[in-house]
Amino acid sequence: MRVIRYSEHGGPEVLTVDKVPVPEPGEGQLRVRVEAVGVNFIETQLRSGTAPFPSPVPSAPRGDVVGRVEAAGPGAHRFAVGDRLAAWGVADAYADHVLVTDGQAVAVPDDVSAPVATALASTAQVAANVLSVGRLAPGESVLVHAAAGAIGHLVTQLAKLRGAGTVIGTVGSPEKAAFVRDHGADVVVDYTAPDWAEQVRAATGGAGVDVVLDSVEGPVFAPSLALLKPLGRLVYYGFAGADGDVARVALTDLLGLKSIVGTAFDAWLAAAPEEAERHQRELTELVRDGRLRVAVHAVLPLEEAAQAHRLIEDRRQLGRVVLVP
Ligand SMILES: NC(=O)c1ccc[n+]([C@@H]2O[C@H](COP(=O)([O-])OP(=O)(O)OC[C@H]3O[C@@H](n4cnc5c(N)ncnc54)[C@H](OP(=O)(O)O)[C@@H]3O)[C@@H](O)[C@H]2O)c1
Repeated sequence: MRVIRYSEHGGPEVLTVDKVPVPEPGEGQLRVRVEAVGVNFIETQLRSGTAPFPSPVPSAPRGDVVGRVEAAGPGAHRFAVGDRLAAWGVADAYADHVLVTDGQAVAVPDDVSAPVATALASTAQVAANVLSVGRLAPGESVLVHAAAGAIGHLVTQLAKLRGAGTVIGTVGSPEKAAFVRDHGADVVVDYTAPDWAEQVRAATGGAGVDVVLDSVEGPVFAPSLALLKPLGRLVYYGFAGADGDVARVALTDLLGLKSIVGTAFDAWLAAAPEEAERHQRELTELVRDGRLRVAVHAVLPLEEAAQAHRLIEDRRQLGRVVLVP
Protein backbone atom coordinates (compact mmCIF):
# COMPACT_ATOMS: atom_id res chain seq x y z
CA MET A 1 0.00 0.00 0.00
CA ARG A 2 1.01 3.65 -0.32
CA VAL A 3 1.85 5.98 2.57
CA ILE A 4 3.14 9.55 2.44
CA ARG A 5 6.16 10.25 4.65
CA TYR A 6 9.15 12.59 4.93
CA SER A 7 12.70 11.98 6.07
CA GLU A 8 13.80 15.62 6.50
CA HIS A 9 12.21 18.97 7.21
CA GLY A 10 11.58 21.17 4.21
CA GLY A 11 9.06 22.34 1.64
CA PRO A 12 6.15 20.21 0.39
CA GLU A 13 8.58 18.44 -1.97
CA VAL A 14 10.04 16.42 0.96
CA LEU A 15 6.81 14.40 1.04
CA THR A 16 7.41 11.05 -0.65
CA VAL A 17 5.09 8.22 -1.66
CA ASP A 18 6.43 5.08 0.04
CA LYS A 19 5.32 1.48 -0.57
CA VAL A 20 4.85 -0.53 2.64
CA PRO A 21 3.01 -3.73 3.64
CA VAL A 22 -0.63 -3.35 4.72
CA PRO A 23 -0.38 -3.13 8.56
CA GLU A 24 -1.90 -5.72 10.91
CA PRO A 25 -3.97 -4.35 13.81
CA GLY A 26 -2.48 -4.99 17.25
CA GLU A 27 -4.15 -4.99 20.69
CA GLY A 28 -7.04 -2.49 20.74
CA GLN A 29 -6.45 -1.43 17.12
CA LEU A 30 -8.63 -1.36 14.02
CA ARG A 31 -7.41 -1.39 10.44
CA VAL A 32 -9.39 1.04 8.33
CA ARG A 33 -9.57 1.21 4.55
CA VAL A 34 -9.30 4.93 3.90
CA GLU A 35 -12.02 6.82 2.00
CA ALA A 36 -10.69 10.34 2.65
CA VAL A 37 -8.14 12.14 4.79
CA GLY A 38 -8.52 15.72 6.04
CA VAL A 39 -5.25 17.65 5.72
CA ASN A 40 -4.62 19.85 8.74
CA PHE A 41 -2.58 23.06 8.79
CA ILE A 42 -0.41 21.93 11.72
CA GLU A 43 1.09 19.20 9.50
CA THR A 44 2.63 21.86 7.25
CA GLN A 45 4.36 23.39 10.31
CA LEU A 46 5.56 19.98 11.53
CA ARG A 47 6.83 19.03 8.07
CA SER A 48 8.71 22.29 7.62
CA GLY A 49 10.07 22.17 11.20
CA THR A 50 8.54 25.56 12.08
CA ALA A 51 6.17 24.43 14.84
CA PRO A 52 7.10 25.96 18.21
CA PHE A 53 7.84 22.51 19.69
CA PRO A 54 10.10 19.59 18.67
CA SER A 55 9.08 17.78 15.47
CA PRO A 56 11.59 14.96 14.96
CA VAL A 57 12.27 13.39 11.56
CA PRO A 58 11.79 10.96 9.88
CA SER A 59 8.07 11.36 10.26
CA ALA A 60 4.73 11.19 8.48
CA PRO A 61 1.72 13.50 8.54
CA ARG A 62 -1.13 12.69 10.86
CA GLY A 63 -4.68 13.46 9.82
CA ASP A 64 -8.43 13.06 10.14
CA VAL A 65 -9.34 9.80 8.44
CA VAL A 66 -12.73 8.52 7.29
CA GLY A 67 -13.12 4.92 6.21
CA ARG A 68 -14.43 1.46 6.95
CA VAL A 69 -13.08 -1.03 9.45
CA GLU A 70 -11.60 -3.99 7.58
CA ALA A 71 -9.90 -5.80 10.46
CA ALA A 72 -10.08 -5.59 14.25
CA GLY A 73 -7.28 -6.55 16.64
CA PRO A 74 -7.85 -8.27 19.98
CA GLY A 75 -9.59 -6.00 22.50
CA ALA A 76 -10.99 -3.56 19.93
CA HIS A 77 -14.68 -3.75 20.80
CA ARG A 78 -16.32 -0.42 20.01
CA PHE A 79 -16.36 -0.98 16.25
CA ALA A 80 -16.80 -4.06 14.08
CA VAL A 81 -15.59 -4.99 10.61
CA GLY A 82 -17.69 -3.04 8.07
CA ASP A 83 -18.41 -0.07 10.37
CA ARG A 84 -17.78 3.40 8.99
CA LEU A 85 -15.85 5.79 11.21
CA ALA A 86 -13.89 9.02 11.43
CA ALA A 87 -10.68 9.09 13.46
CA TRP A 88 -8.52 12.03 14.53
CA GLY A 89 -4.76 12.30 14.96
CA VAL A 90 -4.20 9.15 12.92
CA ALA A 91 -0.51 8.28 12.42
CA ASP A 92 0.67 7.58 8.85
CA ALA A 93 -2.68 9.07 7.84
CA TYR A 94 -2.06 9.85 4.15
CA ALA A 95 -2.32 6.19 3.16
CA ASP A 96 -4.52 3.49 1.66
CA HIS A 97 -5.02 1.76 5.03
CA VAL A 98 -4.45 3.10 8.54
CA LEU A 99 -4.44 1.76 12.09
CA VAL A 100 -6.60 3.52 14.65
CA THR A 101 -7.54 2.80 18.23
CA ASP A 102 -11.14 2.61 19.42
CA GLY A 103 -10.71 5.81 21.44
CA GLN A 104 -9.65 7.88 18.43
CA ALA A 105 -12.76 7.10 16.42
CA VAL A 106 -16.40 8.15 16.14
CA ALA A 107 -19.16 6.55 14.08
CA VAL A 108 -20.02 8.22 10.76
CA PRO A 109 -23.38 7.72 9.04
CA ASP A 110 -23.42 6.50 5.45
CA ASP A 111 -25.27 9.59 4.20
CA VAL A 112 -22.37 11.97 4.92
CA SER A 113 -19.81 12.09 2.11
CA ALA A 114 -16.27 11.08 3.08
CA PRO A 115 -14.63 14.50 2.42
CA VAL A 116 -17.30 16.22 4.54
CA ALA A 117 -17.11 13.55 7.24
CA THR A 118 -13.37 14.23 7.74
CA ALA A 119 -14.53 17.35 9.61
CA LEU A 120 -16.35 15.15 12.12
CA ALA A 121 -13.10 13.53 13.27
CA SER A 122 -11.73 16.63 15.00
CA THR A 123 -12.22 19.86 13.06
CA ALA A 124 -15.86 20.46 13.97
CA GLN A 125 -15.15 19.28 17.51
CA VAL A 126 -12.35 21.82 17.88
CA ALA A 127 -14.74 24.51 16.60
CA ALA A 128 -17.33 23.54 19.23
CA ASN A 129 -14.64 23.19 21.89
CA VAL A 130 -13.24 26.73 21.48
CA LEU A 131 -16.73 28.21 21.77
CA SER A 132 -17.40 26.21 24.94
CA VAL A 133 -14.05 27.11 26.46
CA GLY A 134 -14.67 30.76 25.56
CA ARG A 135 -18.07 30.46 27.35
CA LEU A 136 -19.77 32.31 24.50
CA ALA A 137 -23.20 33.41 25.72
CA PRO A 138 -26.14 34.34 23.47
CA GLY A 139 -25.90 37.91 22.22
CA GLU A 140 -22.15 38.22 22.85
CA SER A 141 -19.78 39.45 20.17
CA VAL A 142 -17.01 37.19 18.92
CA LEU A 143 -13.89 37.71 16.85
CA VAL A 144 -12.95 34.61 14.83
CA HIS A 145 -9.42 34.73 13.41
CA ALA A 146 -8.63 32.88 10.14
CA ALA A 147 -12.37 32.57 9.60
CA ALA A 148 -12.04 31.08 6.10
CA GLY A 149 -10.00 28.13 7.35
CA ALA A 150 -11.04 24.53 7.90
CA ILE A 151 -11.88 25.20 11.54
CA GLY A 152 -12.59 28.92 11.12
CA HIS A 153 -15.56 28.57 8.78
CA LEU A 154 -17.13 26.02 11.15
CA VAL A 155 -16.55 28.21 14.23
CA THR A 156 -18.19 31.12 12.44
CA GLN A 157 -21.32 29.08 11.71
CA LEU A 158 -21.44 27.48 15.17
CA ALA A 159 -21.10 30.86 16.87
CA LYS A 160 -24.25 31.98 15.07
CA LEU A 161 -26.02 28.70 15.82
CA ARG A 162 -25.20 29.25 19.51
CA GLY A 163 -26.85 32.67 19.38
CA ALA A 164 -23.82 34.95 19.15
CA GLY A 165 -24.40 38.64 18.56
CA THR A 166 -21.98 40.27 16.14
CA VAL A 167 -19.58 37.74 14.62
CA ILE A 168 -16.46 39.31 13.12
CA GLY A 169 -14.24 37.10 10.96
CA THR A 170 -10.69 37.95 9.96
CA VAL A 171 -9.03 36.86 6.71
CA GLY A 172 -5.59 37.21 5.18
CA SER A 173 -6.75 38.24 1.72
CA PRO A 174 -9.78 40.10 0.37
CA GLU A 175 -10.97 37.23 -1.87
CA LYS A 176 -11.89 35.24 1.25
CA ALA A 177 -14.36 37.84 2.53
CA ALA A 178 -17.45 36.72 0.58
CA PHE A 179 -16.88 33.10 1.69
CA VAL A 180 -16.70 34.09 5.35
CA ARG A 181 -19.82 36.24 5.06
CA ASP A 182 -21.59 33.35 3.37
CA HIS A 183 -20.76 31.20 6.40
CA GLY A 184 -22.35 33.60 8.85
CA ALA A 185 -19.97 36.44 9.70
CA ASP A 186 -21.64 39.82 10.08
CA VAL A 187 -18.38 41.67 9.48
CA VAL A 188 -15.17 40.57 7.74
CA VAL A 189 -11.85 42.33 8.33
CA ASP A 190 -8.59 41.73 6.46
CA TYR A 191 -6.02 41.51 9.26
CA THR A 192 -3.16 42.26 6.90
CA ALA A 193 -4.42 45.87 6.89
CA PRO A 194 -2.45 48.01 9.37
CA ASP A 195 -5.67 49.35 10.92
CA TRP A 196 -7.45 45.98 11.20
CA ALA A 197 -7.91 46.19 14.98
CA GLU A 198 -9.45 49.64 14.66
CA GLN A 199 -11.83 48.23 12.05
CA VAL A 200 -12.88 45.50 14.50
CA ARG A 201 -13.38 48.03 17.29
CA ALA A 202 -15.43 50.25 14.99
CA ALA A 203 -17.64 47.25 14.11
CA THR A 204 -18.49 46.91 17.81
CA GLY A 205 -19.36 50.57 18.19
CA GLY A 206 -16.08 51.13 20.02
CA ALA A 207 -16.83 48.63 22.81
CA GLY A 208 -14.53 45.75 21.82
CA VAL A 209 -15.49 42.06 21.76
CA ASP A 210 -16.61 39.57 24.39
CA VAL A 211 -14.72 36.60 22.95
CA VAL A 212 -11.67 36.23 20.72
CA LEU A 213 -10.89 32.86 19.12
CA ASP A 214 -7.23 32.99 18.20
CA SER A 215 -5.58 30.30 16.10
CA VAL A 216 -3.09 32.70 14.54
CA GLU A 217 -1.21 34.33 17.46
CA GLY A 218 1.97 36.10 16.20
CA PRO A 219 1.20 39.67 15.18
CA VAL A 220 -2.55 39.43 15.85
CA PHE A 221 -2.27 38.27 19.47
CA ALA A 222 -1.53 41.53 21.34
CA PRO A 223 -4.07 43.64 19.40
CA SER A 224 -6.66 40.89 19.95
CA LEU A 225 -6.11 40.96 23.70
CA ALA A 226 -6.45 44.73 23.61
CA LEU A 227 -9.81 44.33 21.80
CA LEU A 228 -11.37 42.32 24.65
CA LYS A 229 -14.06 44.05 26.66
CA PRO A 230 -13.92 43.86 30.48
CA LEU A 231 -14.78 40.24 31.43
CA GLY A 232 -13.85 39.20 27.90
CA ARG A 233 -12.17 35.85 27.11
CA LEU A 234 -9.44 35.09 24.58
CA VAL A 235 -9.20 31.43 23.56
CA TYR A 236 -5.74 30.54 22.29
CA TYR A 237 -5.73 27.38 20.18
CA GLY A 238 -3.16 27.72 17.40
CA PHE A 239 -0.13 29.60 16.16
CA ALA A 240 -0.46 29.74 12.37
CA GLY A 241 1.19 33.15 12.22
CA ALA A 242 3.69 32.74 15.04
CA ASP A 243 6.73 32.12 12.84
CA GLY A 244 8.46 29.95 15.45
CA ASP A 245 8.11 32.43 18.33
CA VAL A 246 5.44 32.11 21.01
CA ALA A 247 3.74 35.33 22.11
CA ARG A 248 4.47 36.62 25.61
CA VAL A 249 1.83 38.23 27.81
CA ALA A 250 2.36 40.97 30.36
CA LEU A 251 0.11 40.09 33.31
CA THR A 252 -0.71 43.78 33.67
CA ASP A 253 -2.49 43.51 30.29
CA LEU A 254 -5.07 41.29 32.02
CA LEU A 255 -5.96 43.76 34.75
CA GLY A 256 -8.90 45.09 32.73
CA LEU A 257 -10.81 41.91 33.69
CA LYS A 258 -9.51 39.93 30.74
CA SER A 259 -8.92 36.17 30.62
CA ILE A 260 -6.83 33.98 28.35
CA VAL A 261 -7.40 30.25 28.13
CA GLY A 262 -5.53 27.80 25.92
CA THR A 263 -7.04 24.60 24.58
CA ALA A 264 -5.84 21.51 22.74
CA PHE A 265 -8.23 18.86 21.47
CA ASP A 266 -6.68 15.94 23.37
CA ALA A 267 -6.72 17.94 26.61
CA TRP A 268 -10.40 18.77 26.02
CA LEU A 269 -11.31 15.11 25.36
CA ALA A 270 -9.56 14.09 28.59
CA ALA A 271 -11.04 16.90 30.71
CA ALA A 272 -14.61 17.02 29.38
CA PRO A 273 -15.40 13.62 27.80
CA GLU A 274 -19.16 13.92 28.28
CA GLU A 275 -19.38 17.36 26.74
CA ALA A 276 -17.18 16.20 23.86
CA GLU A 277 -19.52 13.26 23.28
CA ARG A 278 -22.55 15.54 23.33
CA HIS A 279 -20.82 17.86 20.85
CA GLN A 280 -20.13 14.89 18.58
CA ARG A 281 -23.79 13.88 18.47
CA GLU A 282 -24.91 17.46 17.86
CA LEU A 283 -22.29 18.15 15.21
CA THR A 284 -23.11 14.97 13.31
CA GLU A 285 -26.79 15.95 13.21
CA LEU A 286 -26.00 19.56 12.25
CA VAL A 287 -23.88 18.33 9.34
CA ARG A 288 -26.50 15.78 8.28
CA ASP A 289 -29.33 18.27 8.18
CA GLY A 290 -27.23 20.97 6.50
CA ARG A 291 -27.28 23.53 9.30
CA LEU A 292 -23.49 23.18 9.58
CA ARG A 293 -21.91 23.31 6.13
CA VAL A 294 -18.47 21.81 5.69
CA ALA A 295 -16.83 23.54 2.72
CA VAL A 296 -14.54 21.17 0.84
CA HIS A 297 -12.07 23.35 -1.04
CA ALA A 298 -10.22 20.59 -2.88
CA VAL A 299 -10.19 16.81 -3.10
CA LEU A 300 -6.80 15.62 -4.35
CA PRO A 301 -5.37 12.14 -4.99
CA LEU A 302 -3.04 10.76 -2.30
CA GLU A 303 0.02 11.18 -4.53
CA GLU A 304 -0.67 14.92 -4.63
CA ALA A 305 -0.12 15.37 -0.90
CA ALA A 306 2.62 17.90 -1.65
CA GLN A 307 0.13 19.94 -3.66
CA ALA A 308 -2.34 19.78 -0.77
CA HIS A 309 0.33 21.12 1.61
CA ARG A 310 1.30 23.83 -0.91
CA LEU A 311 -2.30 24.95 -1.19
CA ILE A 312 -2.60 25.28 2.59
CA GLU A 313 0.80 26.94 3.03
CA ASP A 314 -0.06 29.47 0.36
CA ARG A 315 -3.20 30.26 2.41
CA ARG A 316 -5.47 29.61 -0.56
CA GLN A 317 -7.98 27.21 1.04
CA LEU A 318 -11.58 28.11 1.72
CA GLY A 319 -12.53 25.40 4.18
CA ARG A 320 -11.16 21.89 4.04
CA VAL A 321 -8.48 20.25 1.85
CA VAL A 322 -8.89 16.49 1.49
CA LEU A 323 -6.83 13.62 0.05
CA VAL A 324 -8.39 10.45 -1.35
CA PRO A 325 -6.58 7.15 -2.11
N1 LIG B 1 -5.87 23.48 19.82
C1 LIG B 1 -6.31 22.47 19.09
O1 LIG B 1 -6.78 21.46 19.59
C2 LIG B 1 -6.22 22.55 17.60
C3 LIG B 1 -6.67 21.48 16.82
C4 LIG B 1 -6.60 21.60 15.45
C5 LIG B 1 -6.07 22.74 14.88
N2 LIG B 1 -5.60 23.73 15.67
C6 LIG B 1 -5.07 24.97 15.10
O2 LIG B 1 -6.18 25.68 14.57
C7 LIG B 1 -5.74 26.46 13.48
C8 LIG B 1 -6.64 26.20 12.29
O3 LIG B 1 -6.37 24.91 11.79
P1 LIG B 1 -6.88 24.51 10.34
O4 LIG B 1 -6.36 23.17 10.05
O5 LIG B 1 -8.31 24.82 10.27
O6 LIG B 1 -6.07 25.54 9.44
P2 LIG B 1 -6.63 26.69 8.49
O7 LIG B 1 -7.31 27.72 9.33
O8 LIG B 1 -7.37 26.08 7.37
O9 LIG B 1 -5.27 27.29 7.95
C9 LIG B 1 -4.53 28.17 8.72
C10 LIG B 1 -4.91 29.63 8.38
O10 LIG B 1 -4.20 30.49 9.23
C11 LIG B 1 -4.10 31.75 8.61
N3 LIG B 1 -2.75 32.31 8.80
C12 LIG B 1 -2.49 33.45 9.46
N4 LIG B 1 -1.19 33.72 9.45
C13 LIG B 1 -0.60 32.74 8.75
C14 LIG B 1 0.75 32.49 8.38
N5 LIG B 1 1.76 33.30 8.73
N6 LIG B 1 1.01 31.40 7.63
C15 LIG B 1 0.02 30.56 7.27
N7 LIG B 1 -1.29 30.75 7.60
C16 LIG B 1 -1.59 31.83 8.33
C17 LIG B 1 -4.40 31.55 7.13
O11 LIG B 1 -5.67 32.15 6.85
P3 LIG B 1 -5.67 33.64 6.23
O12 LIG B 1 -4.91 33.58 4.94
O13 LIG B 1 -7.10 33.97 6.04
O14 LIG B 1 -4.97 34.50 7.23
C18 LIG B 1 -4.49 30.05 6.98
O15 LIG B 1 -5.39 29.68 5.99
C19 LIG B 1 -4.28 26.11 13.24
O16 LIG B 1 -3.49 27.09 13.86
C20 LIG B 1 -4.13 24.78 13.93
O17 LIG B 1 -2.82 24.52 14.35
C21 LIG B 1 -5.69 23.65 17.01
